[in-house]
Amino acid sequence: MCGIVGYSGQKNSLMILLDGLRRLEYRGYDSSGIAIKDNDKIYNRKAVGEIKELEAKIGDKQIEGNVGIAHTRWATHGTPTEANAHPHCDCQGKIWLVHNGIIENHQKLKKQLQKEGHKFSSETDTEVVAHLIEKYYQGDLAQALKKSLHDIEGAYSFVAFHKDEPSRLVAVKKGSPLVLGLAEDGVIVASDVTAIIKQTRDVIYLEDEEIVDINGSNFDIFNLANEYKKKKAMYVDWSIEQLEKNGYPHFMLKEICGQPETVTDSLRGRLVAEEGNVKLGGLDNIAKELNDMKDLISVACGTAYYACLVGEYMLEEYADLSTKSIVGSEFRYRKYCFNKNSVILGVSQSGETADTLTAIKEANKKYITTLGIVNVVSSSVARATTAGIYNHIGPEIAVASTKAFTSQLVTLSLLTVYLGRIRNMSFPMGQRIVQELEKLQEKISKVLENEEKIAGIAKKYYQVPNFAFLGRKYNYPIALEGALKLKEISYIHAEGFAGGEIKHGSLALIDKNFPSIFLVPEDSVYEKNLGNIQEIKARGGNVIAITTEGNKEVAGIVDEVIYIPKTLEMLTPILSVIPLQLFAYHMAVIKGKDVDKPRNLAKSVTVE
Ligand code: AGP
Ligand code: GLU
Repeated sequence: MCGIVGYSGQKNSLMILLDGLRRLEYRGYDSSGIAIKDNDKIYNRKAVGEIKELEAKIGDKQIEGNVGIAHTRWATHGTPTEANAHPHCDCQGKIWLVHNGIIENHQKLKKQLQKEGHKFSSETDTEVVAHLIEKYYQGDLAQALKKSLHDIEGAYSFVAFHKDEPSRLVAVKKGSPLVLGLAEDGVIVASDVTAIIKQTRDVIYLEDEEIVDINGSNFDIFNLANEYKKKKAMYVDWSIEQLEKNGYPHFMLKEICGQPETVTDSLRGRLVAEEGNVKLGGLDNIAKELNDMKDLISVACGTAYYACLVGEYMLEEYADLSTKSIVGSEFRYRKYCFNKNSVILGVSQSGETADTLTAIKEANKKYITTLGIVNVVSSSVARATTAGIYNHIGPEIAVASTKAFTSQLVTLSLLTVYLGRIRNMSFPMGQRIVQELEKLQEKISKVLENEEKIAGIAKKYYQVPNFAFLGRKYNYPIALEGALKLKEISYIHAEGFAGGEIKHGSLALIDKNFPSIFLVPEDSVYEKNLGNIQEIKARGGNVIAITTEGNKEVAGIVDEVIYIPKTLEMLTPILSVIPLQLFAYHMAVIKGKDVDKPRNLAKSVTVE
């Protein structure tokens, strides 16, 4: 997600804030803004695009003021426009704030505040907080912020100031990061230390629901029960590069290891366990079309296409919905027999993939309802579709897609529950899926514990020129995705197969120099998979197996085993793909490849 910076001290705040924003830009940006307090005047500027657009707007203007806040936005609610860029303020332009995260109950709060007479000027979820603080303000910003927190549901970090409280800056976090930097001349508060270390390397990491009350170089930290906390500063000696990657050597590894959190971000505010259902606000405006829908056609490319293939199994099994997936680049050039109750679903991390976008536009021409599962808010696919679901996982930087894939799978499982519950899915079944989704964060963390073991396997096999990836049913698309990941970043030839299909020709490739990676969790096709493993072993092929915890049978047959926790069969791909991501990553590292920027590829493919 985005970046926030605040400063209160003796120096002019403008340069400190702009420098902080520039360093936070890697976290994603679509617009940015600044608010600086100069006695009883507020200087506020916003711009769409990169930070340099904001700098151009500010120009050479001399701006006084020792207290200020700034924001680089990665939109979650509302298009990236100047009106939606932060900082946001209350009705009177006195309370200014920046926010990182999502306010889940913003619609309800907004309605209530509007009834009470508050006037809104943006489409963001954030603005409700400025008005809530205004409602509770009685001369003490920290206390008004604290009161507002009782009404807010979601993930956030905020930094705010009030025009009438001279050098005061108040900040708080829950679920989104926030760090304090203790400089000699003042205090900086930011989403991460990259924005701080030019001023100081002495920092304090805030915990959830800790409020920090800053006054120049002085500050207090207290919690919601008004208990004061003494916290020790720590010294940061990392370089800027290390800091952006949070200490990981590559963005790809950071993104793989961040999946327990990003999967949770995609689920946030959407699970309703007590109703065995999910909430997907982005689909509300096409409830009727979804009710009448007879079949769903997914369109996507590469990794996102493989997510759609998993979605086919989910939607057919649990939502009784006929589903097929089409590669974006094929869609336009083939005749499909849609019926008037068909719905087209475009799945795209970037929302800018030309092949997917042209397919959506083609569907729009045929007046077919279009849906999107997109990560980048207000991207082209998001704008071209009638309704949709955002992934909410922040920017994916590595070219090889990892966290977007697991988020797409999670989002498709939410869609399955949503559509299933308006069809034949029972309450207990809905509840079962929702409860399993709630456990994913912990289970993904468990899979990640295998990293060292997987790195060891990569060391053994890195000189092999070919790999086969195999799986059945839900794990067939994961075999395709595992092969794509390996090709993409290590340049090793790999092919994905449906486990039962290899004997129809490709088995001829297998010998002792052609290893296979087999996805063989204990699911409804487990026994069949075992048979296929035996066929490979009988031809002298080495097998690396991904199976479920506690299984000894597979270990007795294959050469290497990696265990993943048990979950519902339809959710297994969310766990089983992670060892394949790690395997591809470590193969590429050992081979000395440019992991984050593989040759010949681009993150976003905007040509057909
Ligand atoms: C995956 O690792 C790839 N880089 C690629 O297949 C990607 O998933 C595809 O180009 C689709 O991108 P999108 O999700 O942004 O539309
Ligand atoms: N939800 C807020 C918005 O869309 C903040 C997004 C962010 O973290 O950048 O404006």
